[in-house]
Amino acid sequence: MWYQVSGVFVTFEGGEGSGKTTQLKLLANHLRVLGNEVVETRDPGGTTIGKEIRTLLLSPESAPMSVAAELLLYEASRAQLVREVLAPALARGAIVLCDRFIDSTLAYQGFGRGLDLNLIRQLNQLATEGLTPDLTVLLDLDPAIGLLRSGRSSSAESSSQDRIEAEPLHFHQRVREGYLALARAEPDRIRVIDAGLSMAVIETAVLDEFTRLTRSRSTVHG
Ligand SMILES: Nc1ncnc2c1ncn2[C@@H]1O[C@H](COP(=O)(O)OP(=O)(O)O)[C@@H](O)[C@H]1O
Ligand SMILES: [Mg+2]
Repeated sequence: MWYQVSGVFVTFEGGEGSGKTTQLKLLANHLRVLGNEVVETRDPGGTTIGKEIRTLLLSPESAPMSVAAELLLYEASRAQLVREVLAPALARGAIVLCDRFIDSTLAYQGFGRGLDLNLIRQLNQLATEGLTPDLTVLLDLDPAIGLLRSGRSSSAESSSQDRIEAEPLHFHQRVREGYLALARAEPDRIRVIDAGLSMAVIETAVLDEFTRLTRSRSTVHG
């Protein structure tokens, strides 16, 4: 891809250890080399409020957390991220890469915890003010493999699992199936990539999806 693009919003989704952070960084580096402004962020997180909420959400000491409290904390962090980071960056034409977003809440709190999907959609709408990713890369992986990967990558001092990782395997399997159901419902936005492949092969597949998106946009916008 040789041309510069602007105002593009890409999210990375998938279970624990599926390679979201790895692939986000690879795509960011690639696009920066081409001269684009790239904003890397994550949800929850990405703002001062969001970082505090992220700590609350992931700390094992927060367990047991009510499912409603959990849902609302994710949405609160998201609302702040949209206002403070995502909307301004997209308005000035940056490429924004976000580690998790609305589909995580549908997959984890909806399919995983059993909360009503339409309720979550309404709260997503409130938090995002309608901002939807142009492209969502779904890194699909057997959670048994993903949890092993994220366990291995933890440093000695942070070797304990976070509150979500610590959920039983069948929870993570419901999350995976949920993600795949979301992708079937929105096949044009949510692009499934086999996260069991090598990092380099996935990197190419992600870039192909990005190129497909920006080509279709430049067709639409001339
Ligand atoms: N395609 C891959 N094959 C094997 N290991 C991978 C692959 N992608 C990432 N990893 C490794 O798996 C671990 C988790 O990757 P990470 O990008 O942090 O996942 P996530 O952000 O989805 O939790 C890291 O140690 C990373 O180096
Ligand atoms: Mg990560």
